[in-house]
Amino acid sequence: MRRPMVAGNWKMNGSRESITALLAEIKAGIGAVTGTDVVVCPPYVYLPEVRRQVDSMPIGLGAQDVSDQDSGAFTGEVSGAMLKDVGCTYVIVGHSERRNIYGEDDALTARKFAAARRHGLIPILCVGELLEEREQGVTEQVVARQLDAVIELEGVEALAQAVVAYEPVWAIGTGRTATPEQAQEVHAFIRARVAERNADVAAGLRILYGGSVNGGNAKDLFGRADIDGGLIGGASLKGGEFLTICNAAVQAG
Ligand code: PGA
Repeated sequence: MRRPMVAGNWKMNGSRESITALLAEIKAGIGAVTGTDVVVCPPYVYLPEVRRQVDSMPIGLGAQDVSDQDSGAFTGEVSGAMLKDVGCTYVIVGHSERRNIYGEDDALTARKFAAARRHGLIPILCVGELLEEREQGVTEQVVARQLDAVIELEGVEALAQAVVAYEPVWAIGTGRTATPEQAQEVHAFIRARVAERNADVAAGLRILYGGSVNGGNAKDLFGRADIDGGLIGGASLKGGEFLTICNAAVQAG
């Protein structure tokens, strides 16, 4: 059985004050969330503060990005070693906003995935197609290309200590969620693609869905066979709604 997981991607939002209030709400309800990994991914600068505030709570810490380099003259970058040092367990790599706004390609994403692993972090590898790619009918080719870049660099076994998040770009922050059927179809494709190389890794791989997940649609999405939880953006900034989503994962798990 795969353990469900819900990760909140706060993106570039929040202040010390708002984050403290958000965490207080989450902490108040987290006791009811059993058998599910709950993770929050604040902006880099708030990682130590969030670590301090969630200490001894069953809430994991993740970063939103990581450098492909380990140390040195790389102004503005943050290494996997640093993330590990401040208490991160997870790190998102290849989020569509990194790929599409900052031009990060499959090769760089794969190197970031490798860097995360070198430092003992669990990468949450994001994959997903643009609207025009879906309309052209090339969703599977795009997702396969993004996945294969990582498998070619690190080997399929690396996915045994990783999480994949399917996030169709047209569904992120748009309020336009993929239907559970659309999401399940791509999740099953991802699992089958991994299974071609290693059936055990595929069976154990957690594949999260992301893109306009909210308290109302989470249960239906997480109820599908290959959807093991969610990567939540906007709705993770509201404590009550994030908890509703976590509880949907508990019920589905
Ligand atoms: P959203 O973002 O839930 O606001 O659509 C998801 C994500 O980008 O990870």
